Amino acid sequence: MPVMGPMELRSFVLLFVAIPYSLASVTVYSQIPLGQATQSASAATYTAPAAYDPTVLNPPPVPPSFSTQISLSVPATSDNVSLSQPLKGSFLGFSIEFSVISQVFGKNSSFIQVPFLNLMSNLRQRAGEVRIRVGGNTQETASLVDSLPNGDMALKEPSNLNDPTSTPALRYTADALYMLGNISSLVDVKWFLGIPFNDTTNLRLQIAEVGEAVLDSGGYLLGFQVGNEPDLYAAHGVRPSTYSPYDYFGEVGILVDAVNNDNSIPVKNNLVVPSVSGTWTPEDVFNTGIVTSYDNSLGYLAVEHYPTDNCYAQYGIGSPVDPQTVFPDYLNHTSATSLVAPYLNASSYAASVGKPFVMMETNTASCGGFPGISDSFGAAVWAVDFALQMGAVGFWGAMLHVGGQDDYYNPFTPPPTNQSSYHQWTVGSVFYSSLFVAEALGSSGTARLVDLTNALTSPSDTTTPPATSIYTPVYAIYENGAPARLVVFNFVTDTSGSSTVQFTFGLGGGNVPGSVQVKYLLAPSVSDKNNITWAGQTFGSTFESDGRFQGSPSITTISCSASSNTCTVPLPAPCIALIFLTSSAYAESNPSSTVTFATTALTQTWNTATINPTVLATSNGMSGKERDQLASTSRENGAASMGTGIGVGLGLGLVGLGVGAWMGGAGTW
Ligand SMILES: *[C@@H]1O[C@H](CO)[C@@H](O)[C@H](O)[C@H]1NC(C)=O
Ligand SMILES: *[C@@H]1O[C@H](CO)[C@@H](O)[C@H](O)[C@H]1NC(C)=O
Ligand SMILES: *[C@@H]1O[C@H](CO)[C@@H](O)[C@H](O)[C@H]1NC(C)=O
Ligand SMILES: *[C@@H]1O[C@H](CO)[C@@H](O)[C@H](O)[C@H]1NC(C)=O
Repeated sequence: MPVMGPMELRSFVLLFVAIPYSLASVTVYSQIPLGQATQSASAATYTAPAAYDPTVLNPPPVPPSFSTQISLSVPATSDNVSLSQPLKGSFLGFSIEFSVISQVFGKNSSFIQVPFLNLMSNLRQRAGEVRIRVGGNTQETASLVDSLPNGDMALKEPSNLNDPTSTPALRYTADALYMLGNISSLVDVKWFLGIPFNDTTNLRLQIAEVGEAVLDSGGYLLGFQVGNEPDLYAAHGVRPSTYSPYDYFGEVGILVDAVNNDNSIPVKNNLVVPSVSGTWTPEDVFNTGIVTSYDNSLGYLAVEHYPTDNCYAQYGIGSPVDPQTVFPDYLNHTSATSLVAPYLNASSYAASVGKPFVMMETNTASCGGFPGISDSFGAAVWAVDFALQMGAVGFWGAMLHVGGQDDYYNPFTPPPTNQSSYHQWTVGSVFYSSLFVAEALGSSGTARLVDLTNALTSPSDTTTPPATSIYTPVYAIYENGAPARLVVFNFVTDTSGSSTVQFTFGLGGGNVPGSVQVKYLLAPSVSDKNNITWAGQTFGSTFESDGRFQGSPSITTISCSASSNTCTVPLPAPCIALIFLTSSAYAESNPSSTVTFATTALTQTWNTATINPTVLATSNGMSGKERDQLASTSRENGAASMGTGIGVGLGLGLVGLGVGAWMGGAGTW
């Protein structure tokens, strides 16, 4: 469909000004009030897509005998503190289902979503780069084709696999890879891709051939996954029921040989295995000898894991899980430590063979996450703790999964295709986690992490650590041999203010600075999803973001006590505080400006308002009662292809209003 140029857009907005439609009826039509306040609603009564679900759960009660005064002596490196390997600020990246790239990235290489670029730019400015894995179940059946109708670069086909997630088959053109290259050149995204592994007797290596040609020269290609969750192949009916780690080992060997024999694939050592999800342990696969056999071909060792699943609600598989019941499980440090426990051996094995260890795909719960949990502030706090815990125990990085409209856990969700002209993006709570981790680790690539929770003390509970320290975990980040930043959590929600924690720290073997700077990730409650702020700035509520921060940054300066040689930082309930111990640690991850991509400057080709004016002109309106079904064609993997036009009278009111207000706000047309 045609893209609206600036003049068309202007006259279109003017058209709206001339013929005002009723905003009230628009609200009835869309069924999802713009910028609505927090409200409680049960998931059962909400039928629009999961990504915009308004369910708000109750926060857990304040734990008994909660220690609100906690202290820490931050060890000097000479104290034999056990630091992680050096980590990058891009540690917490994203895993994007191949089938939703058209919605998330853009229609094609010359039509990239501006809100997406802005979100990535925020991360790049803090971390120096962004890591994204494009794949998931849809990578397995993807085929490169010469062209697709309408200038599209990716198209899903219905699939008849027995896979319970009904993953569609996918056709894509080389332009999809050019688009990734364009994104990289703008915002320094580095990519993991996947080589289709559904048929190893007929391998399709084109993604590696074209992917390396387009991405590798810029250093934008991290590696190629060989198989996505092969431990579920039998259960999904895509391999025989006897399929074992040895069968996988054999098939990887076939692919390794094919890559080695393919002159169009110059880089031979960037394959990723085994990407198991927990049905097999990583050791089940390592013990086949896969790493020693294919050492020269393997770039990374990876796993994929979600803490739990919501498959019963989504697909009727397994048993029902009540979100309210499991919400508290996410809201303490035990979640993070128990999630990494099964990987400690695999992580040290990876280190021993010199391969980075990657959590290739995770989020709050598989099968889309949970209403009220996955997009809550609690999930944001959980994801930061989980990410830092992974970093502390030897992971190289982790990727938060992005699905389609039917998932609750997305870090960011574009509006449904046919609402893209009047709704903006929805930034999910866990996007703030990625941003937080980016700043906590910074851009130097030298950050080394340690979990110091067990070293906390409290005057009210003289056990070390105090019993309630699971609600106040703390990490230190060292750079160049000295503590640079601290991350301290308060998982508790207490609007009365009486659960604000006073966190007092000193620096082992040294003096505290005169003052420290603190940035808070805040919301009124762990249940909240509309009032999350990072150092005072926000991406707004549902449908409110163009990917740029709203509001002014607010950084707290805390004076330290020279007499006690300590600093005391208050931790509101709930929050995460990022404490900068030196001005250079602050400067490293707090750029003075962020490059943004204004829609106004790029309406010609990069327009989020993809409206076909001829459709609007001939439309007859639509019943105000009719619920938008949104452009979802698969149950898990989101929306149909871009640009289906809008075509409703009632929608027109909002189109004019939304675009006009937004363009006016951005300022230049
Ligand atoms: C991208 O899509 C637009 C709109 O359909 C089309 O005009 C343009 O030619 C496409 N670009 C490429 C590189 O295919
Ligand atoms: C995007 O990719 C196209 C190739 O499809 C190329 O012509 C164009 O210059 C690229 N744009 C940027 C900003 O890299
Ligand atoms: C750790 O992993 C290695 C490699 O798979 C394996 O040989 C060893 O048995 C594992 N150790 C434990 C305690 O699981
Ligand atoms: C949006 O697209 C969906 C799916 O194609 C369709 O069912 C719905 O009617 C559309 N809504 C509007 C307002 O065009």
